[in-house]
Amino acid sequence: MKVQHLCTVILFMLFMLSCSEEEQDDVLYIPTNVNFTDSELALIEQTLDLPASPYNYANLPLPDHFKTDEATELDNTPANNPITDIGATLGRVLFYDKNLSANNTVSCASCHQQSAAFADNLKFSEGFNGALTRRNSMGLINSRYYENGKFQWDERAETLEDQVLMPIQNHKEMGLQLAELEAKLEQLDYYEILFEKSFGSDEISSDRIAKALAQFIRSMVSFNSKFDEGLIAAGNPDVYEDMPDLPNFNEQEKLGMDIFLRGRNGATCGYCHGGAQNVNDAAKNNGLDLNYADKGKGEFTGNSSDFGLFKVPSLRNIALTAPYMHDGRFETLMEVVEHYNNNIQAHPNLNFRLTTLDDGDEEEGEVLKLYLSQEEKEAVVAFLHTLTDQTIINDEKYSDPFK
Ligand code: HEC
Ligand code: HEC
Repeated sequence: MKVQHLCTVILFMLFMLSCSEEEQDDVLYIPTNVNFTDSELALIEQTLDLPASPYNYANLPLPDHFKTDEATELDNTPANNPITDIGATLGRVLFYDKNLSANNTVSCASCHQQSAAFADNLKFSEGFNGALTRRNSMGLINSRYYENGKFQWDERAETLEDQVLMPIQNHKEMGLQLAELEAKLEQLDYYEILFEKSFGSDEISSDRIAKALAQFIRSMVSFNSKFDEGLIAAGNPDVYEDMPDLPNFNEQEKLGMDIFLRGRNGATCGYCHGGAQNVNDAAKNNGLDLNYADKGKGEFTGNSSDFGLFKVPSLRNIALTAPYMHDGRFETLMEVVEHYNNNIQAHPNLNFRLTTLDDGDEEEGEVLKLYLSQEEKEAVVAFLHTLTDQTIINDEKYSDPFK
């Protein structure tokens, strides 16, 4: 009896121990002691250039058009991973650390460069062993505002936390297994301090790596463009309901914004690239090809109704992220506008917004064309340039902290 009793107690204790270990990170840790001591800073400064108290990532001074109910609803920050200043600081270090690749040659920032709005300017990017990615690198700004929270051109990643671990393991991009990654980072002194401050203990797990990277990326919000200045000057109207005339825009930019929002001949950019954040919540087909070499969302769902569907990227800072589309096929914004103007292909999954489907007068499902003049095309391009934000691409808190 006694032995049995003892066994039960031991088993129970073992059970509790294993539970508490697994659930450790489910208890939300709120960092308090985030400033580095002199000795911590001395150690960090051997490798990194970090401020003694972290930059502000958690409470960005967002303008009112980012604080509306609609904008707040778009925010995909999960309850178990709120942005903290120190967590995002750790994310920044990870983002720029070449130790995250198998042969220490590539970091996230190799393909997501601050000067290119966290994309790069190549059609396809080179991974750790020289092999090219099969798709065009994506800009990361405003990742936080994709309401469905899914990532990659084909929306394969269910959450940003899932996404950020994919390139590390990808055999072309960084080529490291997660267990190898954890072991590697454990050898680096600065991570001991940064994980401890961010998560309450110096344990390095892929879960925590994912959380920190996601915090850093979610902190990349762009709100200092000419477009934002105009919205603020106009009293923060609702972009789509009020379709305001922005007082700081010249005539060409006003015309471009009008074409973007109101459309021409039924085709309207803003239907898909919507809101002040210029985002959309589901992958769509925009008629690039009749037959797609890359099947996009259909490639992993296997559904023919998903063939040719790709994520609708935010157009914030789009002038900085050339070339364009999932395969980088267009080198300039003018080529992109020309695609919508006159070259949309009647793919079976072409989104109805680019067809006459909801226009009773014409035959169902015919492809729309914008029929823009050269002057009007230039105006759309000029409007897209008003979405460029020089602040975020020069802000030190998003820059490379390595010496
Ligand atoms: C070798 C180049 C390369 C490296 C290194 C790289 N990426 Fe990417 N990244 C890409 C490409 C290409 C895509 C598009 C992938 C696709 O859709 O198949 C992408 C997509 C993404 C996306 C999805 C964005 C969206 O809006 O859906 C995120 C987030 C991202 N990368 C974060 C990271 C992080 C974090 C790292 C480092 C851990 C990293 N990337 C390393 C090339 C790279
Ligand atoms: C039916 C929805 C839809 C409409 C309407 C639409 N787009 Fe797009 N747009 C997309 C999708 C989907 C992609 C990505 C397609 C791909 O890469 O295969 C995209 C990509 C883009 C890109 C390239 C983004 C990048 O990061 O490479 C630009 C620029 C763009 N669109 C501008 C416009 C403009 C300007 C208009 C209006 C003339 C417009 N779009 C209308 C769905 C739409």
